[in-house]
Amino acid sequence: MRQAIRVGLIGFGTVGAGVARALLRKQRLFARRAGARIVLHRVCDREFRRSRGFRLPSGLSTTDSSKILRDPNIQVVVELIGGQEPARSLVLEALQRGKHVVTANKALLAHSGQELFRAATKAGVNLYFEASVGGGIPIIKALREGLIANDFDAILGIVNGTSNYVLTAMREKGLTFHEALHEARRHGYAERNASLDVGGYDAGHKLAILTLLGFGVQVAPEQLYTEGISKISQADIQYADELGYCIKPLAIAKQVNHELEVRVHPTLLAKTHLLANVNGVYNAVYIHGDMVGAQLFYGRGAGQNPAASSVLADIADVARDVVSGGGPRIPLERRQSHRVYRLRKMGDVETRYYMRFNVTDSPGVLAKISGVLGRHQISIASVHQKERRAARNVPVVMMSHEAKEAHVRKALEEIDRLRVTRQPTVAIRTEAPRTL
Ligand code: HSE
Repeated sequence: MRQAIRVGLIGFGTVGAGVARALLRKQRLFARRAGARIVLHRVCDREFRRSRGFRLPSGLSTTDSSKILRDPNIQVVVELIGGQEPARSLVLEALQRGKHVVTANKALLAHSGQELFRAATKAGVNLYFEASVGGGIPIIKALREGLIANDFDAILGIVNGTSNYVLTAMREKGLTFHEALHEARRHGYAERNASLDVGGYDAGHKLAILTLLGFGVQVAPEQLYTEGISKISQADIQYADELGYCIKPLAIAKQVNHELEVRVHPTLLAKTHLLANVNGVYNAVYIHGDMVGAQLFYGRGAGQNPAASSVLADIADVARDVVSGGGPRIPLERRQSHRVYRLRKMGDVETRYYMRFNVTDSPGVLAKISGVLGRHQISIASVHQKERRAARNVPVVMMSHEAKEAHVRKALEEIDRLRVTRQPTVAIRTEAPRTL
C-alpha cells in the first residue's frame, strides 16, 4: 500500500471545486505518478450552498478552518480563497504547524511573500504557488527550477486572462468594454472584484511574483506602475489595427542599464510581435535569459481546470517531497540576483507612443500640436488625420519615436489645455518587436 498524503482544501470556489473533483476522479493516476495516494481529507468554505457540479462525499465539508489547520493527519493545506486576509493568517498558521502549503493567491504572495517564505523555511516545509501566475502554464516551476542557471534581461507577459479576453472580444466582435467584460465574467475568468483584472492590479501582483523569481527583487505592488485597460476605446483598437498594431495588456519587467523597469499597462504591439497573437483568455510569458536566450510560455491563463491543473502539480510535488523525505526546496527569501538593480522611475522609461488627439478641424492645429511635442523633445514618426465625422472635431493619430515618459506627460498636459483640444488625449505605449 502506498503512503497516503492527506490534503485539506480551504476555499471551495471555482478553482477549489476543480481541484476537489480531479483529486476524487483521478486518484489512481496521481498515485501512479506522484508515488503516494493523495487523499482529499477535508474541504472548508464559509458555505456550501452553491452547486459546483458534483457532490463532495459526505463528511468532507466543514465551515471551520481549524478542522484542517489543527488536524495532525493533514500534511498539505491548499489555500484557494484568494485575497489577503484571512488567507494570510490561515497560510501562516498552516506553515507554523508544519504543514506544506499550496496556494494560487497572487495578491497574498505579492504583498506578504517574504513573510510567508521565511515562515516556510523556518518550519522546514514547502510553499508552492504555481497557479498564482499564468493559470495552467508551469511558468513558476520553469523560472524556479528549469531556468535556475539564467540571469534574465526581460520578462514580458500577458498574465491577466480577463483583460486579454476583453480586448480580444472588442477587436474581434466589436463589443463594448462592458459587454466583453460581462462575457469574461460569465466564463468564470474574472476575479470577484473585476477591477483587479481590468485595473491591471491582478497583472501587477503576478508581475511582482515573476520579478522576484526572475530578478531576485521584491517589488511591492505599490512600487509598480499600473494602468488598466478601461480607457481603451473601439476607436483606438481600430486605429491601431489600421496602423498594423494590436493592443495587449502587458506586464513588463526589463533590465535597462542595471535599472529595472516594472510596469503594467495596455501596450501597442506590431501584429508580427510574438505576443500579438495571444488572444482571448490565453496568457503568455516571454522571457530572455543569458544562457537560454528567448523562450515563450503559452496557455490558458484563467478558468477552473487550467488553474486546478497547476494546483494539482504542486500537490504532487508536495507528495514527492514527503515520500522522499526532502525538505524545503530553493528558499525564495534567500534568492538574490548577483546583478544590482535599482527600480527605474516611470518618468525615465522610454518607449514609442501612440497618441490620439481630439481637436477642432481648423488651420494651424497640427502645427500647434507638433510645436508642443517638439519643445518637449518628442519626435513624430507618423501622422494620420481622419476624415471629420460630425461637428468640427477630428481625431488625429500620431506615432512618436522613442520618447521619455516624463516629457510625454508634460507635453500632453500642455496639449490638453489648448483651446483646439476637445477631449483629453489618449496615449498608449508601444513595445518594440522581439524575436526568438
Ligand atoms: N482573474 C484572473 C485572470 C484569473 O483573469 O487572469 C487568474 O488569475
